[in-house]
Amino acid sequence: MIIRIIRKIVNSIKRNGFKRFIVIQFSKISNWLKLINKKEDPVEVSFKLHSELIDKIYGKGLDVVAGQLSDELLKNLKTEFCNDSCFDYKGEIINSQSIHHILKVDDHSKDMRDTLIENILPGNLHIYNSKNPTLKQLHDELRQMFRKHIGSPFVFVNTRIWKSKPNSKKFGPNDWHSDGFVPGHRKIMIYITPLNDDYGSFEWKDSNDNIHRLNNEKPGKVVFFRNSDVVHQGVPGKTHERISIEVTLMRSLVNGDQNWQGHFYGRHFKNLRQIEALYNNNKLTKI
Ligand SMILES: [Fe+2]
Repeated sequence: MIIRIIRKIVNSIKRNGFKRFIVIQFSKISNWLKLINKKEDPVEVSFKLHSELIDKIYGKGLDVVAGQLSDELLKNLKTEFCNDSCFDYKGEIINSQSIHHILKVDDHSKDMRDTLIENILPGNLHIYNSKNPTLKQLHDELRQMFRKHIGSPFVFVNTRIWKSKPNSKKFGPNDWHSDGFVPGHRKIMIYITPLNDDYGSFEWKDSNDNIHRLNNEKPGKVVFFRNSDVVHQGVPGKTHERISIEVTLMRSLVNGDQNWQGHFYGRHFKNLRQIEALYNNNKLTKI
């Protein structure tokens, strides 16, 4: 047991370097302390109750399901969102820490933003909403593909794109983690580049800790998963950039489009009462 722990520590230092290893451990301890001191948050409780209601009516849906985009949609996504001009080479998106009117946004430290700049290149897909015909086509196709597996109606929450640089560090999304979103949310990853050792791949663990890998797949591979329950990681490629689109959704009593501009650091809805407006068929309002 002690030997296993020591081996784990040594491997982590080898992977991340000593300085980054200390930062990661400090952040884990601080998250753990936050967790044990956490008071019940009424907003989180409302998401939990809402999710329990949806689960009771529709069942929990599946954990992980893979699919394939149509060739036409893949072509449209490449043309519209994957040109060099769509990606931010100056790091302005990564360094923007603006808030969003309805989405909870990740508040990254300077250290984390520096690591992101070294390892990824953000695109601008998050500035669009479902009025964009290609984004709407993507959401419509995903809805058809995963409707039965998600199991309930759902609302599209946020959509973003980025390139992972080859041989990028094992950190954040590229290390084993679950997303810790408020209950009810799910993710769909879309891979514009092939999935293999050269371009990178996606891995997850099932409930028995067995590792599964999406590998040797052609461009347009899609995976839906319960991102806060299923432990997962992106695996960077050895020689090529991997282009990924991430779509966040929330299971709900009604279907809804993403009628708002997203955010590159967008995680999930801030407040369940925003969904109330959808039930009433109104536009989402600030709360
Ligand atoms: Fe994740």
